[in-house]
Amino acid sequence: MSKASFVVAVAGATGAVGREMLRTLEQRSFPVSKLVALASKRSAGQRLPFGAGEVVIEALGPKSFEGVDIALFSAGASVAREYGPIAAKAGAVVIDNSSAWRMDPEVPLVVPEVNIEAAKTRPKGIIANPNCSTIQMVVALKPLHDAARVKTIIVSTYQATSGKGQAAVEDLLQQTRAALAGEAVTPAVFPGRMAFNVLCDWKAGENDYSEEELKMVHETRKIMGDASIGVSPTTVRVPVVNGHSESVHVQFHRAMSAEEAKRLLRGAEGVVLMDDAYAPGKHPQPFSAAGTDPVYVGRVRDDLAVAGAIKMFVVADNLRKGAALNAVQIAERLFVR
Ligand code: A2P
Repeated sequence: MSKASFVVAVAGATGAVGREMLRTLEQRSFPVSKLVALASKRSAGQRLPFGAGEVVIEALGPKSFEGVDIALFSAGASVAREYGPIAAKAGAVVIDNSSAWRMDPEVPLVVPEVNIEAAKTRPKGIIANPNCSTIQMVVALKPLHDAARVKTIIVSTYQATSGKGQAAVEDLLQQTRAALAGEAVTPAVFPGRMAFNVLCDWKAGENDYSEEELKMVHETRKIMGDASIGVSPTTVRVPVVNGHSESVHVQFHRAMSAEEAKRLLRGAEGVVLMDDAYAPGKHPQPFSAAGTDPVYVGRVRDDLAVAGAIKMFVVADNLRKGAALNAVQIAERLFVR
């Protein structure tokens, strides 16, 4: 497509990721000739700020994608399953943030720093944006994988509430207010108390791993193009508004030292290495990552238990690099630069 600017639709524009998509398009000066903001019937007629003005939300329907060049979806898997093919048939390139299409062999699963080439072959007209926890991990792993080929990953996550949507953030805030006031804490969205607590917040998948954990297993292999990579995850929700953290242990096909890993990570695409972990405020942390683009990597250490393996702590804004920014970067790399 050699156009100078594009008609861009955002399906799920009122949601946590959808709003971030609007902000990201604006902040990165994505060449938008017209923005079509779509949500459920409930939100039709509401306005959202965009650029110098506002956009009026339209109810998502079968005719929403006529004339649309790029359709960014963040409205959940069932909406993506129904409307993704409709948008693609109408001529839009669909970039979907849900899990609906990620493991479809005819749908590329793309993190630009790792496998942007895959986005060029899209028989269904759909590109999938990976799970937020997977995106930040593979951005950090890519330079290490290129040097020494990753063999095994053991990862524990500390995931923010915004990954579950705007209503989940509001639930955390209302639970926290109630707890601080000494009132009864009644969860509205979470499967239990989220304020001052940590939760296993996903449905069970196979072998007693959660659905979220299994996404990290399968999506990592697909993005990195290596089905032999062993991934053993534990995912946990923590009472953070925004920004996922991960403790990652990595073994390679040849020995890797922390020194070499730091050298490879320093200046790697999309990565900021925070090398001074014990200086106050100098280690990766979700509060300072929130609202920013990079994947922050710190606490890179030789593993004490496994020779030739390393450990690192990886933090990123799950709404940005974990979702909206990654989707917009895919569109930029395909159509703009
Ligand atoms: P709405 O705000 O009108 O419900 P989040 O991930 O923060 O929960 O946001 C989900 C997004 O997906 C919202 O923009 C929501 O719109 C939208 N959405 C949910 N269900 C539908 C649907 N059936 N049709 C269109 N948009 C939907």
